[in-house]
Amino acid sequence: MSQRIILTGITTTGTPHLGNYAGAIGPAIEMSQQNDNCFFFLADYHALIKCQEPERIIQSRQEIAATWLALGLDTEKATFYRQSDIPEITQLMWLLTCVTAKGLMNRAHAYKAAVDANTSNDEDADKGITMGLFSYPVLMAADILMFNATDVPVGRDQIQHVEMARDIAQRFNYLYGEHFVLPEAKIADNVALLPGTDGRKMSKSYNNTIPLFLPEKQLRKAIMRIVTDSTEPGEPKDPDQSTLYEMYKAFATEAECAQIRQAYAEGIAWGEMKQVLFEKVNALLSEPREKYNELMANPQYVENILLQGAEKARAHTVPFIADLKKAVGL
Ligand code: TRP
Repeated sequence: MSQRIILTGITTTGTPHLGNYAGAIGPAIEMSQQNDNCFFFLADYHALIKCQEPERIIQSRQEIAATWLALGLDTEKATFYRQSDIPEITQLMWLLTCVTAKGLMNRAHAYKAAVDANTSNDEDADKGITMGLFSYPVLMAADILMFNATDVPVGRDQIQHVEMARDIAQRFNYLYGEHFVLPEAKIADNVALLPGTDGRKMSKSYNNTIPLFLPEKQLRKAIMRIVTDSTEPGEPKDPDQSTLYEMYKAFATEAECAQIRQAYAEGIAWGEMKQVLFEKVNALLSEPREKYNELMANPQYVENILLQGAEKARAHTVPFIADLKKAVGL
């Protein structure tokens, strides 16, 4: 098989939570231990589409960068950078914009959802919709194609965007020659979709998240607040209907899971199970948490790592954009 290039980005609008860790950051770091060509980046230009509060962008960029590092990303091996430190990405975005059919963008789920919401509220169809939101998939295509990524690990909601990147790449290749590899979305089915404190998928938009690096006491409190049903201690419980078990499963080994399933059958009390879950998660996070706090107190250190990452990335992007500009006649 030809060389795989793995690339993924995280939009810097919020504080990383347990779901981001279990579903995205953790698996990505693991992948980077086995593959020499990993590109991970902070999608801070994408953040501007959703968030126009500079303070929040600044904070989120720091938190997300510190999170990857605290969880053990080896930045000597993987290339770790901020999108906005790579000017060639936005240059490429324009080249791609000029070959992207408007009709393709009209079909983007995020844009369509915004239009639908307006229409059903009897508002103008385009109310509150910026060109940033409309062009979001072109920027994402530039992120991916700039590094000729083959594998793009993303959540299901992003599959369409990766497919659009393929379409755009094909159009560019057809017009100007074979410059881009066609990327594939990689949805890991063995990766945990973590439930939130209310049992629905853990997501910022549901307000049911547990921030990854809460201080120990607050982490405990957050876990104690997870919603359960009213089954009494001693009554057998179904692990497959239990948010606590589903969360536990995301962090535990198979043997540990088997043991807990047995405890459910024997009627473990919800309070006790919460304690078990807390101990599991806390054991996993206590070292990274310390590291995270150190990194957050040392922004210059993190900044230097990001700038080194940008330099590494630009060793590729600067000559590549020169070729692409030449190809289009600039
Ligand atoms: N749009 C992605 C998200 O919100 C983040 C992202 C931006 C991304 N550019 C990317 C993911 C390129 C993978 C590849 O989750």
